[in-house]
Amino acid sequence: MCAVTRRQTGPAETRRANRRWWDGDAEAYLATHGDFLGTADFCWCPEGLREAEVRLLGEVAGRRVLEVGCGAAQCARWLTLAGAYPVGLDLSAGMLAAGARLSAATGVPVPLVQGDAERLPFADASFDLACSAHGAVPFCADSATVMREVARVLRPGGRWVFATPHPVRWMFADDPGPEGLLARMPYFDRRPYVEQDGAGVASYVEHHRTVGDRVREIVAAGLTLVDLVEPEWPPGHQRVWGQWSPLRGRILPGTAIYVCAKP
Ligand SMILES: C[S@@+](CC[C@H](N)C(=O)[O-])C[C@H]1O[C@@H](n2cnc3c(N)ncnc32)[C@H](O)[C@@H]1O
Repeated sequence: MCAVTRRQTGPAETRRANRRWWDGDAEAYLATHGDFLGTADFCWCPEGLREAEVRLLGEVAGRRVLEVGCGAAQCARWLTLAGAYPVGLDLSAGMLAAGARLSAATGVPVPLVQGDAERLPFADASFDLACSAHGAVPFCADSATVMREVARVLRPGGRWVFATPHPVRWMFADDPGPEGLLARMPYFDRRPYVEQDGAGVASYVEHHRTVGDRVREIVAAGLTLVDLVEPEWPPGHQRVWGQWSPLRGRILPGTAIYVCAKP
């Protein structure tokens, strides 16, 4: 039996729960969302914003790019085809195995590394760019450390662009229908969203930061916030993805994309 609660949980419990969650969910996640994500496409969010349209990373050809929380590495594969040298990092062996299968099927190889966004296994200044499309950031208890780690592995002049659920979504039930339009939870309640079993063992954890919290984490890591992109729900876009739906998309922002630079 699974129960949903809000309670404190630290990095170790969060990591354990989410690694197991994504290992177990990898096949179902791809069966549900794989057609929308494509096999070598860079989709930022359920609103369908594509890097090919918006170029938030700037020029990618010839650049070394780290994708943090790459899942099955669809974005990294798009980067390869665009002439970049990406590396995909993910906590979950299950997601990476799905990524390796997609690479074999498409003939577009991407180096994949199993690791934790809070402890990036890379040398200082080893990447020109870093990105994450709803990847690791909200799944880490210590996202301030994620910001510092990404800043460390970026070279000066590098860029870090990451998408998360929009912080205002925290107030609303996880429901794509009318129930999901009622603000029920305090925006300022930072206690993590936890799904747990009858013994209280967490099976899935998401962490919340207000917009101000997130900006402070970025600045404290020595990065500059260049833009905060809030993709609008495109007219005619009908796809429901979990809590994301045309109904809510017309009213509420669903995704926040933070564009940061390392001075
Ligand atoms: C919603 S998926 C997004 C992946 C991909 N962009 C996509 O759209 O399918 C989130 C990914 O973040 C990974 N993740 C969660 N916590 C992580 C951590 N601490 N370090 C690295 N990756 C993590 C998960 O394993 C999962 O593959």
